[in-house]
Amino acid sequence: MNPLMASVPIRVASPLLAALVLAGCGGSPPAAEPAPRPPVAVEAPEETVSPAGAPASGVGAPGEAPGAPAPMASGTPRSPSIPLDSPEDDGRAGEATTLDGIYTGAQARRGLGVYRQICSDCHDPADWQDEAFLARWNGESVYRFWYYIYEQMPEGEPPYTLSREQVTDVVTYILQLNALPEGPSELGPDEDSIDDHWLYWGPAP
Ligand code: HEC
Repeated sequence: MNPLMASVPIRVASPLLAALVLAGCGGSPPAAEPAPRPPVAVEAPEETVSPAGAPASGVGAPGEAPGAPAPMASGTPRSPSIPLDSPEDDGRAGEATTLDGIYTGAQARRGLGVYRQICSDCHDPADWQDEAFLARWNGESVYRFWYYIYEQMPEGEPPYTLSREQVTDVVTYILQLNALPEGPSELGPDEDSIDDHWLYWGPAP
């Protein structure tokens, strides 16, 4: 063992110990030796650079301005639309999208049932076909869309009120509503299945 390692802590510790003992006996703290403060200037926090902030430009509130003139460009602040012809730029090569047929007709019919039973109190199909809605979700993962419904719907209910199957089925109903193609197999309600796909309402223009 390195002798240095043993001796260093002791040297450091003993004055401390002495202080403790003194304090303990005296009952009151030793007369304040004005601890010589190191003359290090308190770091003056650099004046905060004023946030290069143009105030976030008014993004339309969800559901507003159905007749907004700029169809697909507005309303999706966070996701630049990804050109479909070069998905490999985003590591999305080979990942299926809603254009590939990721649900079946039977599943969408079940979804229609969920819609009629639960969603139609507040929604009608036009809610899920308008430009603002489509723009908001275009290029997102199917999972994100799925999860929004799972967590947030029906409004006013606690999260996760619907079963995973109900959510999955109603998502496929919304896909069908927008004329996205059916495929040979159902969209599975498990995380992996849903997470595997990207949501596009149509081919890139
Ligand atoms: C009690 C009323 C109510 C019910 C029932 C309901 N929703 Fe909603 N839903 C809302 C409201 C209100 C909003 C808007 C929430 C917001 O903007 O924050 C909304 C928003 C949504 C959105 C997002 C729309 C967008 O423009 O991005 C989807 C998708 C959705 N609902 C799906 C469903 C589905 C599917 C069902 C049935 C399983 C359902 N909702 C049932 C009230 C409801």
